Amino acid sequence: MNRFEYRQNALYCEDIKLEDLAKKYGTPLYVYSKNMIIDKFKAADAAFGSTDHIICYAMKANANLEILRLMASLGAGGDVVSGGELYLALKAGIPANKIVYASVGKTDEEIQFALESGIRAFNIESEPELQVVNDIARQLGKKAPAAIRVNPDIDVHGHPYISTGKSINKFGIDIEAAFDVFKKADSMSGIDVMGVHCHIGSQILNLDYFDATAKKLFDFVTKLKNSGINIHHIDIGGGLGVHYPDVIPEFSEEKTEVPPPAQLAEIVLNVLKPLNCEIVFEPGRSIVGEAGLLIGRVNYVKFSRDTKFIVVDAGMNDLIRPSLYQAYHQIVPLNKTDGKLERADVVGPICETGDFLAKDRNLPPVQRGDYLAMMTAGAYGYALASNYNSRPRPAEIWVDGDRDELIREREKVEDWTR
Ligand code: LLP
Repeated sequence: MNRFEYRQNALYCEDIKLEDLAKKYGTPLYVYSKNMIIDKFKAADAAFGSTDHIICYAMKANANLEILRLMASLGAGGDVVSGGELYLALKAGIPANKIVYASVGKTDEEIQFALESGIRAFNIESEPELQVVNDIARQLGKKAPAAIRVNPDIDVHGHPYISTGKSINKFGIDIEAAFDVFKKADSMSGIDVMGVHCHIGSQILNLDYFDATAKKLFDFVTKLKNSGINIHHIDIGGGLGVHYPDVIPEFSEEKTEVPPPAQLAEIVLNVLKPLNCEIVFEPGRSIVGEAGLLIGRVNYVKFSRDTKFIVVDAGMNDLIRPSLYQAYHQIVPLNKTDGKLERADVVGPICETGDFLAKDRNLPPVQRGDYLAMMTAGAYGYALASNYNSRPRPAEIWVDGDRDELIREREKVEDWTR
């Protein structure tokens, strides 16, 4: 259910008028629909039905502590990629035995922290890492629960920066070479081989790639089982895409088909169910992406020959996805007017030509003081925000029905000189 809609020309999040939030908390401002996050998590969880499974929320998408606490209350586990994420996940109340830990560059300190915390599984990304985890576990007198991340060499044809499952990507161990690594792992006294892990990329809208991956995993796990290696779980990663250009239908210039998680689960289980392994799913974007938006205030409208620039107070430091991945975020006014749509670039205040939120978009006329919303900013929005140009990061709010709550204060410049 979409929790963002116009009522009498004003954009609402659940039952709150977004302009009221912009005025109350200032801009740039991230706003999330709490109930949409809940809906999305429940849909992901229900997708796997009675099959033994766990949803490990990929907290890199959005690691706000309140959102993590909500995940914990819903029974989610966590997919973490650093000691910092592990710290936050534990702090938010996600039980250690529901946390999986991937990263190609785990440090000794991080490995020790994860071992002492008692996480569910390391997702091991290389043979040298396997050796280090084994050594540290032995020094601590522990056995490290481990899945090994295989790289299935599957091209999901997305943006090159967010595809992870090709052999040219740094992630995991080539599926051709991985069997020997599992055998080695199985013989190590500091390693408890638990599962197989795989993550092929992000913002995937074509489920054929999940089908192809599941088939490769099926063959691989069958081979492992036949050779006597016990595989408890198969971690299929995350990667399901979301709506970007077409959240608010009346302003959408293109349409996307986004498959529901139930379809993904059906395709994957169709292949993997006979293996009787627990399924781990690590969605990030599809839980929080559509549930968040970023509000910017129009400060200036300027023209240069044929180009109209709408200068807002949100920039690439607040939402870097358009600059970094040429990502398309739908942009809509908080208050609808009747004016004729005009082509414009929406840009921020940062001193870089690459600082834009949209290029050549059809937008209604706006004036200084109006507000625009950058839709689908709940995932990899705040998470990738920075202090570039010495700009404090925005505040984060969430809305629950007709109530709003500050879930992260706006950063202050004084914070930097503490
Ligand atoms: N599991 C692993 C091992 C991952 O590397 C990722 C994302 C996920 C799960 C979650 O994937 P999701 O369900 O969110 O697609 N910053 C980029 C996206 C980077 C994704 C990195 N890995 C963006 O803004 O598009």
